[in-house]
Amino acid sequence: MKIDGTPYRSIWVDETDGWSVRIIDQTKLPWSVDLVRLTTLEEMAHAIKAMLVRGAPLIGASAAYGVALAMRVNASNAALAQALEVLGATRPTAINLRWALKRVAALLQTLEPSARADAAYAEAAKICDEDVAVNEAIGRNGLVLIEEIAKAKKRVNVLTHCNAGWIATVDWGTALAPIYKAHDAGLEVHVWVEETRPRNQGASLTAWELGKHGVPHTVIADNAGGHFMQHGQVDLVIVGTDRVTRQGDVCNKIGTYLKALSARDNKVPFWVALPSSTIDWTIRDGLSDIPIEERSASEVTTMTGRALDGSIATVRIVPTSSPAANPAFDVTPARLVTGLITERGLCEATESALTGMFGDLA
Ligand code: MRU
Repeated sequence: MKIDGTPYRSIWVDETDGWSVRIIDQTKLPWSVDLVRLTTLEEMAHAIKAMLVRGAPLIGASAAYGVALAMRVNASNAALAQALEVLGATRPTAINLRWALKRVAALLQTLEPSARADAAYAEAAKICDEDVAVNEAIGRNGLVLIEEIAKAKKRVNVLTHCNAGWIATVDWGTALAPIYKAHDAGLEVHVWVEETRPRNQGASLTAWELGKHGVPHTVIADNAGGHFMQHGQVDLVIVGTDRVTRQGDVCNKIGTYLKALSARDNKVPFWVALPSSTIDWTIRDGLSDIPIEERSASEVTTMTGRALDGSIATVRIVPTSSPAANPAFDVTPARLVTGLITERGLCEATESALTGMFGDLA
């Protein structure tokens, strides 16, 4: 997608040196677009852990490039094992991390060390290209849901939570891909963007990228979503996901479950957009089997933004003596999910539908 008219992906190999990896530092958005150059395994691991890059598909692609950066320096079996371990420990919930590392490892383990660096770069590039194609297909498949609503009313209101747009992937996004397709097709689509406390991925990232693409949107407090649903102002919810189990339970950014409950109570369709690399075929019960990342309490006790004098400031919003808890994800049971938007089509959130559509992967 474009930033001020220039097309970007969220990750790429530096054109001048041909080996270092460029990313957009998402911790600086929306205040500045910093294109950070990563040169080592450690720098990539830090970028994932500290959320300079984030979003399940982008975390996977970044990890693949992290292996390539490591192999460039030392491609021994021990170095490969070390790279997989370091990257695998960066974030626990998004399954795409494990998926990408497994895929790169399976390839490199069959090769002599001398061939590993080139192969790792090529595989990382392939993962990126596939991600773009897959998300584009998600966009096309999800577009029909918006088109259907647009037959009956002029403006379609979609609510989304967190950021599952192009910067959470390599390009297009998952939840936002159908929205970009609808907007580009000339449909009048408006997005309710939930701020998504505590890290505000909605307010700072989704709002930023929708704005850059010219998609009409309104940022709302997370607590306002149910209210807009009760008042008939949400036609459709589309969210992304960090892991879907084989029975269709959906793990996504904290707060998603509450939106699914409100959507069910108000008969608003609740759709989840995902690439098949986000399905964890090894587990069924999302509530008991998905590790939920617990992040720093400081994400809850403080907020960062632009002060009126233009500087970027972090302020504390909780009494200094009050502790805070910060689970980063929650699980929405499959029964609350209207359906899944995948690269192969729309799919019920059930084991039989998922294995029917993805029998070759399950
Ligand atoms: O913690 P984050 O920002 O990496 O969270 C991941 C997400 O962006 C969301 O949970 C998203 O909805 C799914 S990833 C496309």
